[in-house]
Amino acid sequence: MSLFKKKNSTPLLIPNHIGIIMDGNGRWAKKRGMPRSMGHKKGADVFKSITRYCRDIGVKYLTVYAFSTENWKRSNEEVSGIMDLLREYLKDVKNYTKDNIRVKFIGDRSALDSDIVALMEETENDSVNFDAMTLNIALNYGGIPEIVNAVKSIVNYGVSVDNIDAALIKSYLYTKDEPDPDLIIRTGGEYRLSNFLTYQSAYSELYFTDVLWPDFKNEDIDKAVLAFSKRNRRFGDAK
Ligand code: FPP
Repeated sequence: MSLFKKKNSTPLLIPNHIGIIMDGNGRWAKKRGMPRSMGHKKGADVFKSITRYCRDIGVKYLTVYAFSTENWKRSNEEVSGIMDLLREYLKDVKNYTKDNIRVKFIGDRSALDSDIVALMEETENDSVNFDAMTLNIALNYGGIPEIVNAVKSIVNYGVSVDNIDAALIKSYLYTKDEPDPDLIIRTGGEYRLSNFLTYQSAYSELYFTDVLWPDFKNEDIDKAVLAFSKRNRRFGDAK
């Protein structure tokens, strides 16, 4: 855990909840003359090691963007490659009991293959008592559809207008039982949130890096945490 060995004057503040937009897999592969699928494969390995590192430094919630509602626009080959990586991970994760990480999925499961949905449910059930960290994998997830679905449910349940407030809306989101992200990291040099945790990110600190996701290392988490530690989070207050 290199984070704690470093000497610096800023006391380190470990974010309780980190969100990560894992971008740049395609460009990483292209730079090496490889198919995009190789970038996703390396990206999946990096995802596994960064997940453990976040747990080791004391992060309690980690949410990663694995597949957005817009990613279906990619070629069938690329989409099925990502789904295969997910299958592989879901089969593997059974052997990760010593990781003590609770795994949850956020997003619309209705468009996913039934064998993947079954593995997702199994993983969620098997890991329900693991408590070192909660890992949310956003799969077929979009922040706007999440809010639209929340509004539909609220109307469907006939909730009276007087009872609608921010907490009520939150209670209809996938992350209803979890704190909102303190820090959102996006790799790959783009400066946007791309429909990731749209409601939950209202007060998140944002950290963008040019590092492509397959090149992302523990030290890059350290840099993001250090930058986060230096931010002055006011939540709208004057100082
Ligand atoms: C964005 O890079 C990445 C994705 C759309 C897929 C992310 C998926 C993984 C890291 C694998 C996840 C696997 C598991 C097991 C959760 P990009 O393809 O948009 O890169 P580019 O911007 O360089 O084209």
